[in-house]
Amino acid sequence: MTNKTAIITGGSRGIGKATALKLADNGINVIITYNSKVDEAHEVVAAIKAKGLKANAFQLDVSNRESFMDIANKVQYSLKEIGECKFDFLINNAGIGLTSPFTETSEEDFDILANVHLKSVYFITQKLLPIINDGGEIVNISSGLTRIVYNDYALYASLKSAIETLTRYQAKELGARKIRVNVVAPGAIETDFRGGAVRDNAQINAAIAGLTALGRVGQVADVAGAIANLLRDDSYWINAQRIEVSGGQAI
Ligand SMILES: NC(=O)c1ccc[n+]([C@@H]2O[C@H](COP(=O)([O-])OP(=O)(O)OC[C@H]3O[C@@H](n4cnc5c(N)ncnc54)[C@H](OP(=O)(O)O)[C@@H]3O)[C@@H](O)[C@H]2O)c1
Repeated sequence: MTNKTAIITGGSRGIGKATALKLADNGINVIITYNSKVDEAHEVVAAIKAKGLKANAFQLDVSNRESFMDIANKVQYSLKEIGECKFDFLINNAGIGLTSPFTETSEEDFDILANVHLKSVYFITQKLLPIINDGGEIVNISSGLTRIVYNDYALYASLKSAIETLTRYQAKELGARKIRVNVVAPGAIETDFRGGAVRDNAQINAAIAGLTALGRVGQVADVAGAIANLLRDDSYWINAQRIEVSGGQAI
């Protein structure tokens, strides 16, 4: 049996790294992208290879159009290095947390965040479609913040809402190729996101845990497991869905 291959943007840390390792546990080859953390990315690649799967990594800056508009060449080169021509799963995960009150958001911050969370996802997916196998799957990453309103997330959450809408349109268009498209919306997860606030600030951590039905904040494994389940053959009929992975945060 030939192994399937996944591309994960932002696989050097956090949710992307955990997902890369989980997919490898499930017998999937993985190519990750990183922005600044080259050593961490190579550690992920080594860990996947140690599990007996193929892996690779390349640099990608989703805030810079020159970097993400050239994605097809980068992916083709990376696939060739591991002896593959096409891939099966695209996880659009790379992201940053940039917060400000709606009244104070600058146009410069708007453009950075729009590139990172919407424009890059839109065009990376469009440009990679010719090399995604029919029957594959795309998983976009949104946020619980499209449903739950917190201070200072107006721009970030609006862009993630756009990703949820895009997911449904993509699912409709790509259904002809039997490519499924779903969107995973994590609640607050302990990562480096926003300076590690959820993980390192005891007050924030306790407040979110108190608002969550299951009584704690999320871990990267919680999200990685949900993404891995979506890619399984027996999840085939799940398509065009927003799946919130928040332990029941603020319900
Ligand atoms: N953590 C949460 O509470 C939470 C909740 C809901 C949704 N999310 C979403 O989940 C996704 C992953 O977040 P995370 O918590 O895992 O974040 P993280 O731990 O900070 O990791 C971010 C990842 O994205 C990459 N990245 C950052 N800026 C980039 C850029 N300009 N170009 C390309 N790659 C870039 C990083 O690469 P380097 O390591 O090379 O810098 C890293 O691999 C994001 O889309 C985020 O919006 C997170």
